[in-house]
Amino acid sequence: MTDGILKMTSKKTGALNGSGMSESVISGNAMAEDEESDILSLRPERLNEYIGQEEVKEALGIAIEAAKLRSEPIEHVLFHGPPGLGKTTLAHIIANEMGGNLTVTSGPALEKGGDLLGILTHLEESDILFVDEIHRTPKAVEEFLYPAMEDFAVDFVFDKGVHARSHRYKLNRFTMVGATTRVGLISSPLRDRFGIFRSLDFYSEDDLKTIITRSANLLEVEIDGPGAAELSKRSRGTPRIANRLLKRVRDYAQVRADGKINKKTVEAALKLEGVDNTGLTELDRRYLKTIIDYYNGGPVGIDAIAATLQEESDTLVDVVEPYLLKIGMLMRTSSGRKASESAFKHLGLTLQKKIF
Ligand code: ADE
Repeated sequence: MTDGILKMTSKKTGALNGSGMSESVISGNAMAEDEESDILSLRPERLNEYIGQEEVKEALGIAIEAAKLRSEPIEHVLFHGPPGLGKTTLAHIIANEMGGNLTVTSGPALEKGGDLLGILTHLEESDILFVDEIHRTPKAVEEFLYPAMEDFAVDFVFDKGVHARSHRYKLNRFTMVGATTRVGLISSPLRDRFGIFRSLDFYSEDDLKTIITRSANLLEVEIDGPGAAELSKRSRGTPRIANRLLKRVRDYAQVRADGKINKKTVEAALKLEGVDNTGLTELDRRYLKTIIDYYNGGPVGIDAIAATLQEESDTLVDVVEPYLLKIGMLMRTSSGRKASESAFKHLGLTLQKKIF
């Protein structure tokens, strides 16, 4: 495989695929790699261990069972949803359930068609190719994906102009699993080649509480019911955040208390983390305060907010906004973003001129 591609290759047996690469982690956020790999170890490996997203689970379970009955690979799957909701975890689960190798890459890592060809030609029957941030795949690379997904073949072109000849190379029947935070940015020819399309939504507090309790068990730390409930309330509906915060609370409980997690340790540890009682982070609050203080509550365009905050607008759209929209603190209108009345209230601010 080509250098410069962030990838993880794994097999249920722990063996590597033909690339000889050691296991590494693909990271789409600012989390330290050691922390992220620790969180990966909390990840469920089988569909029946996966908590929440009931409809997605049922649909995948049926597709996997049917594919196995027919001794075929499962159809290509596209997952859509905000970061941290389990798109990568589900790709691992599909590979485990189908008994195939998993190769992980991402759209932006596939700079040239050759990057993808190297990966595709190493795939074995029923292997899974997971492409994260698939909406950021360069157009030239995307063209190679069409015949690969549809006909399990790639076309090599030799020479140029009138001397151009192409040779079709047959691939093993694999399954592509794509993940995106922005389904609207995927071209329709690519989107149409996925047989299964599922959106992941934020988790309920009940599901998060179950996930936190399971993770605490795996980490061998005691957590009581009110502690798990408080942590789930402050995890922005996102298992990755829940697991990360759980580890910070575990540290706090070990150093400042008796090692057991309860509501009080959660509250104290999360105060240090800058996470408030609804789970909003420093960046969430700065985002809302910018709309309110600088733009009088909105409406205001995302680029103006990003410029004021000195943040990437993609980060705001992918990471910050989905949860604020979900909890009704943000409204997206045709003329721009507006902070809702509940955002003003949450930040303890009063509305100056505007009437909702
Ligand atoms: N850890 C992270 N996400 C999970 C999920 N959906 N179910 C169980 N454990 C998880």
